[in-house]
Amino acid sequence: MQMIGGGAIGFPAIVRGQNLNSRVQLAAVGTEGKGWSDFTSMRTHAQVDVAGLCDIDLARMERARHEHKGARWFQDSRRLFAEMEGKIDAVTVSTADHMHAYITLDALRRGIHVYCQKPLTHNVWEARQVRLQAKKSGVITRMGNQIHSHEAYRTGTKWIQDGQIGKVKEVHSWCAATGHGKSYHISRPVEKPVPATLDWDTWLGVAPYRPYAGGHRVYHPWGWRDWQDFGNGALGDFGCHILDPVFTALNIDKAPISVQCSDHTGMNDEVWPAQNVVHYTFPGFPGTAGPQLKVTWYDGGRLPSSKGNQLPPNEGLPSSGSLFIGETGSLVLPHVAPPRLYREGKLVTEEPPKLPGLDHYHGWVDGIVTGKQPSDGFDYAGPLTETVLLGNIAVRHRGQNLEWDSANLRFTNMEEANRWLRRDYRQGWEISEVA
Ligand SMILES: NC(=O)c1ccc[n+]([C@@H]2O[C@H](COP(=O)([O-])OP(=O)(O)OC[C@H]3O[C@@H](n4cnc5c(N)ncnc54)[C@H](O)[C@@H]3O)[C@@H](O)[C@H]2O)c1
Repeated sequence: MQMIGGGAIGFPAIVRGQNLNSRVQLAAVGTEGKGWSDFTSMRTHAQVDVAGLCDIDLARMERARHEHKGARWFQDSRRLFAEMEGKIDAVTVSTADHMHAYITLDALRRGIHVYCQKPLTHNVWEARQVRLQAKKSGVITRMGNQIHSHEAYRTGTKWIQDGQIGKVKEVHSWCAATGHGKSYHISRPVEKPVPATLDWDTWLGVAPYRPYAGGHRVYHPWGWRDWQDFGNGALGDFGCHILDPVFTALNIDKAPISVQCSDHTGMNDEVWPAQNVVHYTFPGFPGTAGPQLKVTWYDGGRLPSSKGNQLPPNEGLPSSGSLFIGETGSLVLPHVAPPRLYREGKLVTEEPPKLPGLDHYHGWVDGIVTGKQPSDGFDYAGPLTETVLLGNIAVRHRGQNLEWDSANLRFTNMEEANRWLRRDYRQGWEISEVA
C-alpha cells in the first residue's frame, strides 16, 4: 500500500488564479451522508463538473453514480488520486473523521484543492500536518463548517467585532449532543459479516483493525463518531461549528495556553463520555478584556448559568450555542439562529444591522477559480481543530490543567498526555510528517 509522503507528484489543471473561465473538475470522497450535500452543493456552481466519485460502500455510491454517469468511480481514494492524476482539480473529503487527514494530505500533496469536513482531522498532530501541507501546496482549502458563512454567525461575530458588548471578558459555548449518544454502544458490539458492497478494510484505513459490526449506526455509517478510534464525540462533532464564531469574533490567532476538563460523566477505552466540561485559557487578544481569555465548553446537555451577565433573570439559553460576556453587554449566539444582544439586563430590541449569509460551498469554488483563499481555509481551520481536539486530551486527564506549548506541539507539565497528540498508524496507512 502507498505511504503518504514526499512532495507533490502532480499538478492541478487549474493553477491558482489563472483560469477564470475554466471548469473545475471535482471529485467527491464520501458520496452519501454529508458527502452528498457537500458535492451536490458544489455542483450547482456554474463552473463545476463532477469528474470522480469515491466511496468505500458501493451501496452508498449508487445514487451518486446514477446521477453522474460520466464520472469515474472508485472504492479507494488512493486509486482515485493515482488514476485521475491531472484530471481532477478539487476534492470534497466527507468521510468518517479518522480518515480526513490521510485523504486530505494525499490530495494536498498532489496539488489538489480540498474542501474537508469538520473536524479537519482526528488528532492534533494531523491538524498541524494538514495546515503545513496546505500552505506548502498553495491550493485553495476550506473546512466544512458551513455555518461560518450563515447570516446568524456572520452577524453575531460582526456585532462583537464592532464593540456592541465592549471588550469580551469570557465565553461559554455548549452543545446538546452527547459523546456516545449516536451508536447506543459503550463497549464493542458483536462481529457481523461484512456486506458485499463494503470495503471494510479501507473504511478502517489508519485505525487499528477491528471486526466489522453492522446494523443501524454502529460504526459505518454514522455511529463512528462516538468511538475514540474513529471520532471525537460531541466536542469533535460540534466544537468546530460552535467554537468557530468565537475564533472569528475575537480573531483568535494564538493557541490556548492551557486546557482542563473539570468534569465528565465517566469514560472507558472505547467511547467518549456522555457529558463534558472543558476550560480553555487563551492569551488575551485586542478584542478581549484582561491578559487572558477563558472559554468554557459544555456538552451532553449541560449549560452555563445565564444568571447575571446582563441577561434578564429568567432568560433561557438555546440548547446549543455561545454566550459572550462583554464589559458593556452580553451576546447569545444560538446554533443556528439569530444572535441576541443584551445590555443592562434587557434584550436590545433596536438591533444593529445584520449581515447576509454567503454560500460556503460556492465560496470555495470561487476561490479556486479566482485564486483568492476564502476565510476558513486550513490556516484557520487547523488551529481551530487543534484547539477542539486538545479538549478531548484534557477529558482523558480529567482534573489536570494541561499547559500547552503550541510551537513545539507538546504539553509541558504532563508527559503522559503527549501520547494522545497523534496515533499509531496501521501498517500500510502511515502518514509522514510534513517537512
Ligand atoms: N458540516 C456539517 O454540518 C456536518 C454534518 C454531518 C456530518 N459532518 C461531517 O461529515 C463527515 C461525514 O459524516 P456523515 O455523518 O456523513 O458520516 P457517514 O458515515 O454517514 O457517511 C460517510 C460517507 O463516506 C463514506 N466513506 C467512509 N469512509 C470512506 C473512505 N475512507 N473513503 C471513501 N468513502 C468513505 C461512507 O460510505 C459514507 O457514504 C464527518 O467528518 C462529519 O463530521 C458535517
